[in-house]
Amino acid sequence: ARLVVLISGRGSNMQALAECCEREAWPAHVAAVISNRPQAAGLAWAAQRGIATGCVDHTAFAAQSDPRAAFEAALREAIDAHAPDLVVLAGFMRILGADFVQHYAGRMLNIHPSLLPAFTGLHTHRRAIEAGCRLAGSTVHIVTPELDHGPIVAQAAVPVLPGDDEDRLAARVLRAEHVIYPRAVRAWVDGAWWLDGGRVRHAPGAA
Ligand code: GRF
Repeated sequence: ARLVVLISGRGSNMQALAECCEREAWPAHVAAVISNRPQAAGLAWAAQRGIATGCVDHTAFAAQSDPRAAFEAALREAIDAHAPDLVVLAGFMRILGADFVQHYAGRMLNIHPSLLPAFTGLHTHRRAIEAGCRLAGSTVHIVTPELDHGPIVAQAAVPVLPGDDEDRLAARVLRAEHVIYPRAVRAWVDGAWWLDGGRVRHAPGAA
């Protein structure tokens, strides 16, 4: 299977995925890493590993009559040039419009750093600490037009510990993400889960 990963920055989830594909000799590989930010550290990492990289800089479309539509058209072209079976959003920080999402319906995943449906949107760790949550975590879900609301594929919970600040909690969640995201993608490659009428179904025995 061909995976195209979209990033905006560090790209540690993308790295975890690419490393798992190689180390475990998956019947899948990261065909390309595409960023909306030219400076994204993950782009350099991918290029160094010989993975195709691309950048569609959203700021370059500001002068267009419909900047978002123009950006999304260019992004779609960049992605589809790599004929992906699955599009993997990994720290991709642009909200995507309904047409774009529809084009990849059922074959675009995202990872969100909270136990959805709690804490959609930004600053999830700060909000979890402020709310007094004893558990935080991360969710892998299918992307639908409503932000952070798609069918849930996988979750990991981690404790919120006394003295945690946003950074400490974020680091703990990130370590869990590096486990569950590759695992969820691998499970999709293996046909261990699928979308059925807007719900994710898991094969018997699949985690
Ligand atoms: C992750 O915590 C992910 O859940 C969120 O942004 C972060 C991306 O980190 N959407 P990285 O770029 O994969 O290192």
